[in-house]
Amino acid sequence: MATEEKTRPEIEELRRRSAAAEEGGGVERRERERKAGKLAARERIALLLDEGTFEELDKFVTHRCVDFGIEQQRPPGDGFITGYGRIDGRLVYVFAQDFTVFGGSLSEANASKICKVMDLAMRAGAPVIGLNDSGGARIQEGVMSLAGYADIFLRNTLASGVIPQISAILGPCAGGAVYSPAITDFIFMTAETAYMFVTGPDVIKTVTHEEVTKHELGGAMTHNATSGVAHFAARDDAECLAMIRELISFLPSNNLDDPPRRACNDPAERADASLDELVPTEARVPYDIKQAIYTVVDDHYFFEVQEHFAKNLVIGFARLDGRPVGIVANQPAVLSGVLDINASVKGARFVRFCDAFNIPLITFEDVPGFLPGTQQEFGGIIRHGAKLLFAFAEATVPKLTVIIRKAYGGAYCVMASKHIRTDANFAWPTAEIAVMGPEGAVNIVYKREIESAPQAERERLREQKVAEFRARFANPYIAAERGYIDAVIEPRETRIRLITALRALENKRDSNPKKKHGNIPL
Ligand code: HXC
Repeated sequence: MATEEKTRPEIEELRRRSAAAEEGGGVERRERERKAGKLAARERIALLLDEGTFEELDKFVTHRCVDFGIEQQRPPGDGFITGYGRIDGRLVYVFAQDFTVFGGSLSEANASKICKVMDLAMRAGAPVIGLNDSGGARIQEGVMSLAGYADIFLRNTLASGVIPQISAILGPCAGGAVYSPAITDFIFMTAETAYMFVTGPDVIKTVTHEEVTKHELGGAMTHNATSGVAHFAARDDAECLAMIRELISFLPSNNLDDPPRRACNDPAERADASLDELVPTEARVPYDIKQAIYTVVDDHYFFEVQEHFAKNLVIGFARLDGRPVGIVANQPAVLSGVLDINASVKGARFVRFCDAFNIPLITFEDVPGFLPGTQQEFGGIIRHGAKLLFAFAEATVPKLTVIIRKAYGGAYCVMASKHIRTDANFAWPTAEIAVMGPEGAVNIVYKREIESAPQAERERLREQKVAEFRARFANPYIAAERGYIDAVIEPRETRIRLITALRALENKRDSNPKKKHGNIPL
C-alpha cells in the first residue's frame, strides 16, 4: 500500500511563503493588467528566458517603510522579481517590476534588489535586462526611493560599455525613472501599454498649457519615430520579449568577449548579379539600400535598430560568415541619404555600441553630404555631425566600407573613410568620390566663365562642364589611385569580398592613446 509522503512543517512554511510571493498584488489587480493587454511580471520572465532556467533572488525581501499605513502591507519580494537565467543557453541577469504591487513603484528595498543583480552581472560579465512597468518612486518612501534610483543610475553608468544593458518599457515609466533605461544600450517599447516621459500631461498643461495624451507624449511610436529615445517598437509583451532574445543573439556577454558566432550555411562565395543593377543609371533616381544589405548578409537576415527614426540612415545587426556585424548604411530612398542631426546621432551611438562590444562595423555608403538649412545649422549639425565622425574615428573594431554611389564632401571623411582607420575600403564602379556633386562643383568653379558667356551659350556651357567634371571626378578611380580605396569591386562580389576581409581581420589589434576618456562632442 502506498504511503502518503509527509512534508516537514518547515518545508511547508517555505512553500507557503514562496506561493505568497508569487501572488503579487492579487487576482483583481492581475486581472486588470491582463485586460489592459499586459502579461504578469513572472510570465514575462518565463517568456524571456529559456524554459525552466530562472533562478530567483531575494524573493522574501520586504520594504521597511512605516509611513502612510504602508506597514500594514509587506508583500514578499516587494513587487520586483530579480534573478538570472539563460537565453539560448547564455547567462543573463534580469529584473521585472510587478505593477500589481504598489504600482511597481521603487522602494529602498527593491532598489537594492536591482543593485544586487547589477553587481552580480558585472562580476559574472553577463547582460542585464530590465522589464520596466512602474509608477516611479514609491511616494511613501520619499528620499529613500530617490536614493535607490540614484544607486541604480550609478550602476547603469559604470556598467555602460562593460556588459550590454537592455530595457523593455512595458507599462508606465515616468519622472526621473526614465533615466535608468536612458543610460542603457537599447530601449524596447510595447505599442499600446508603454509610455515614458519626464513630466506627464497634467504638469505640461499647467506649465505650457499644451494638451497632450500620455500616448501622444510618450508612447512607443513617439519615442521610436520622433524623439529617438527608443530603439524598438513591439506589438505586445510577447513580441517584445522575443525581440530581446533576438537582439541578445548578436551580442557578446561583455566587453572582453567576442560576439557569439553561428554555424553558417549560406555560402561565403554566394555572388548575386542583382547587385550589379541596383544603382540606377540616372543619378537622381533613388533605390533602397536595404536591398544591398539583405543581399549581402547571411541568409538575407537583417535585424534593424531604430527602424522608424532618421530613416535616411539605416543601422542594425546581421551576420557575415556566421559572425555578428553592425551595419551602418546611408539610405538614398529617404532624403537622398543625406546626413542630418538625427541620422548623425543615431549612427554615432550605434557605432560606439558596436565598438564597445567588439562587433565589426560594415558601412554601406551613398551620401550626398550633410543637410543644408538654418534648422540644421541652428540645431547644431556641426556638433552632432562631429559625433558620428568621432565615433567612427575612435572605433578600433574591424571596420569595412563599401562606397556604392555618392561619397561627397565631409560626409566622405565621416563615413568610415580610409583616413580614420578603416581597415578595408571597397568601392563599386558606380562610386562617385569627390568634394561635391558635378552640378554644385561647376556652379562654383566655372561661375565666372559661365556668367561671362553669351546668354544663349550659358546652359550648353554649363552642361558641358558638368559632363567633363562627371567624367573626370565622379568615379572611384582617383581615390583608388591614391590607395584611399583598396579595391574597386564588382557589386555581385560584395559578400565574398567583405567576408574575406573580415576573416583577415579576425585577430585585429588596435588601440587609442591612453586617457581617462575622450570628449565626444555631446
Ligand atoms: C506608490 C503607487 C505609485 C507610486 C502607483 N501606485 N504609483 N504607489 N508609489 N509612485 C499605486 C496606486 O496607489 C495603486 O494602488 C496602484 O499603484 C495602481 O495605480 P493606479 O493609479 O490605480 O493605476 P493607473 O490608473 O494605471 O495609473 C498608473 C500611473 C499612476 C499613471 C502610474 O499610478 C500614477 O500617476 N502614479 C504616480 C506616478 C508618480 O507621480 N510617481 C512619482 C514620479 S516621480 P492600489 O492599492 O490602489 O492598487 C519619480 C521620481 C523618480 O518617480 C526620481 C528618480 C531620480
